[in-house]
Amino acid sequence: MTGGWEWKYQDGETAALLYEPGNWGDILKDAWVVEIAQWLLALAGRKNFSYLDPFAGAPVYPLGKNTAKRMLPLARTPLGKYCAKFLAGNLWPCAATLIAEIAGTGSAERIQVFDLDPLRRIRLETSPAFSVADAISGWEVLRKFTPGKNDLILIDPYDFLAEWREQLPTVLAACESTSVLLYIYNRSGKGKERLRDYRDFRNALDDARGNRPKLIARAASDAFLPSAHHEVIFLPHESAAAYRKFPALLTQLETTALAINDLISRAAIVER
Ligand SMILES: C[S@@+](CC[C@H](N)C(=O)[O-])C[C@H]1O[C@@H](n2cnc3c(N)ncnc32)[C@H](O)[C@@H]1O
Repeated sequence: MTGGWEWKYQDGETAALLYEPGNWGDILKDAWVVEIAQWLLALAGRKNFSYLDPFAGAPVYPLGKNTAKRMLPLARTPLGKYCAKFLAGNLWPCAATLIAEIAGTGSAERIQVFDLDPLRRIRLETSPAFSVADAISGWEVLRKFTPGKNDLILIDPYDFLAEWREQLPTVLAACESTSVLLYIYNRSGKGKERLRDYRDFRNALDDARGNRPKLIARAASDAFLPSAHHEVIFLPHESAAAYRKFPALLTQLETTALAINDLISRAAIVER
């Protein structure tokens, strides 16, 4: 994570991110986004499904060599299927771009996005695939959005744990109306203070949610001696969770997370 990651767009403009797009966290998060969205779309019907991504990033990023290699064994998965045309063009799609592929043409009004970064926001605005919210922050977008019970919100500001005490009420309020997938960069492995803060967050989340269902998966930030983990927290709306096929969705998400972790462990445990 030192120094961040910088790239050049085809038009020569440069941009920077704190991480390499298509890292194991993106793969885990996007695999779940694709599978949850497919499931909700089947439940709600194509025209009744909306997606909100208030921290959407850019529509696509240049594809790194590591990402391309990581995706090879996942080619036949739902994520692999929706990524294929982007990978073939040496690009990595953001989650909202994958949703646009799943939802099909004519869905731009139902795919709402926002990003604080002006360059990424311009790229979102010039894409025909999305509606870009008019706001000053992703948190404001989240507070203003009025989702339906079969919609999906991705909350992925990268470092949610840095601001969880302030923003958890907004996340919990969103969960009252719809299903939410929250991404967390979990640095608990870096020391006692981080671990304590993460435990405080989990206790606050569990206290607020009571016995409502949730599913959490994580993936090591690096195959080589990781000190951090990417974590995804699925907080389904109660109407989705009441559907008889909901247990099958959870099993599918677990299987996906385990398969991704199997790939990471192969690189982590033995070296040649
Ligand atoms: C991890 S990236 C998002 C990745 C994206 N969801 C994807 O699937 O590729 C986090 C993004 O959140 C944006 N961001 C950070 N704080 C924000 C805020 N308060 N409001 C809106 N966007 C914010 C950053 O500019 C960055 O593009």
